Amino acid sequence: MHIRTAVAAAGVALIQSASAASVEAKNVIYIVPDGYGPASQNMARDLASLIETGTSGANPEIHELAVDDLAIGRVRTHSASSMITDSAASGTAFAAGHKSYNGAISVTPEGLPVGSILEAAKLGGLKTGLVSTTSISDATPAVYAAHVANRGSQPLIAEQQLGYSHPLGSMVDLLLGGGRCNFSPNTTEGSCRSDGLDLLAYAEEKGWTVAQDRNEFDALSKAELPLLGLFAEESMRYEMDRKVLQDEPSLLEMAKTAVNVLHNATRRNEKGFFLMIEAARIDHAGHASDPANHAIETWMYNDVIAWVREWIDKHPDTIMLSAADHETGGLTLNGYDPLPLRNSTHSREHLESVWNNRPESTDEEDFLRSDILPAYGLDDASDDQVKTILEASSIGAGMASVLSARAGVDWSTGGHTSVDITLHGYAAGRKRRALQADLAGGWDNTELPRYIEDVLDLDMDAVTRKLRKASEKDSSWLGKRDVARRSLDGCDH
Ligand SMILES: *[C@@H]1O[C@H](CO)[C@@H](O)[C@H](O)[C@H]1NC(C)=O
Ligand SMILES: *[C@@H]1O[C@H](CO)[C@@H](O)[C@H](O)[C@H]1NC(C)=O
Ligand SMILES: *[C@@H]1O[C@H](CO)[C@@H](O)[C@H](O)[C@H]1NC(C)=O
Ligand SMILES: [Zn+2]
Repeated sequence: MHIRTAVAAAGVALIQSASAASVEAKNVIYIVPDGYGPASQNMARDLASLIETGTSGANPEIHELAVDDLAIGRVRTHSASSMITDSAASGTAFAAGHKSYNGAISVTPEGLPVGSILEAAKLGGLKTGLVSTTSISDATPAVYAAHVANRGSQPLIAEQQLGYSHPLGSMVDLLLGGGRCNFSPNTTEGSCRSDGLDLLAYAEEKGWTVAQDRNEFDALSKAELPLLGLFAEESMRYEMDRKVLQDEPSLLEMAKTAVNVLHNATRRNEKGFFLMIEAARIDHAGHASDPANHAIETWMYNDVIAWVREWIDKHPDTIMLSAADHETGGLTLNGYDPLPLRNSTHSREHLESVWNNRPESTDEEDFLRSDILPAYGLDDASDDQVKTILEASSIGAGMASVLSARAGVDWSTGGHTSVDITLHGYAAGRKRRALQADLAGGWDNTELPRYIEDVLDLDMDAVTRKLRKASEKDSSWLGKRDVARRSLDGCDH
């Protein structure tokens, strides 16, 4: 049980926490729905209900999603530099148990490295994995197996993830996601590196199985660790686009492969595995105020949770925890009806790229009406709405605002918010009640990895001491805090 004393002084609550988990487990699966807030879940559930049962409005037949059932507690997410965190600072808290500044990848505000739960698992003899639908070297996966002063240093993060420049060697046995551009040399088209280092060749030399497309992914289910799968140069496709285009694995497929391969590699061992799975693009759809897309990404997160839950019922030596790093979009449902979202089959991002590549000779309005609006669910847009869309800062911004208004949802920001997020968890049988009893209540995001540390009987501080020893000798591997950052749209994810 967690024993906590709260001392309220001058409006400041000092919370002391001594974590002693009553739950033990061999494996921990930790799932991060990036940018997912409470309204995201309602929005996805009502859209799923409409699609699965054909009902919506005041009294729909509810199609329950897996996460609905699993809430345990709530978590505060502020960072050391802002009430509103980014994924790097929140990830550093959730992975390594330290508050830091926005942009920090498992380093303190003073720039010193702090050991993560995944690194403690690896050094403790467990197998480890990271799965994400965005660049595998982006902030949320990065904090588990890399330490850099600025999240923009993704090429440095990639080097550390493979053990090329991590002082303790490779801490991860399985990496599945996007972000190939950080691994390929500057001579390759699309590379994000400024040097000629070929990390894909390095991985193969070191014995990793490397997969780079859908077909190679399909062969991975029988592969042995270590395993590197990179299926896009940067972010992978949004689920709604992927479903149509079919050229990448889904998050659910990657999660299944990761769990099966890690389980197969450890089932005869005393020690199990730690796996982090990130549903990364709920956040991106939130930044884009893209309502159907945000709901479909959230639905996919629920499908992953549903599968993991069933897997845990068959493997009760495993627990699952899941919490967003922060909410994105300030989403409110003030008159929400999913009906207008139903015909939407592509993301704003995909349709903007179709629009930007339209044939020069076509009439803009005709092209918008024939090739863009139907795929966004706006085939019946009025002349006024078409005018609004054509006059907006981009057609994507115009469409997102028309569709959001029709569906009765509002976005109060294009960035993140500081609203508390929900902690979810699952364990099989009687262990489930024990997990709920351990974790009921309110938490600071730094407290969560300490709980997992206790469940798996690991030592994160020992990792920190090893990393500090390395950084005292030479801290150049930590990179610089002042780095120009590539990002989807220039805002801090
Ligand atoms: C690629 O990297 C090498 C160093 O590894 C550098 O000498 C060269 O100028 C770079 N080329 C480009 C086009 O950036
Ligand atoms: C399990 O791992 C072994 C090697 O330890 C491998 O030969 C086998 O193909 C794997 N099986 C599956 C189903 O992944
Ligand atoms: C969805 O599209 C169909 C035609 O494909 C149309 O009849 C229907 O009105 C559309 N529904 C909405 C809510 O726009
Ligand atoms: Zn974000």
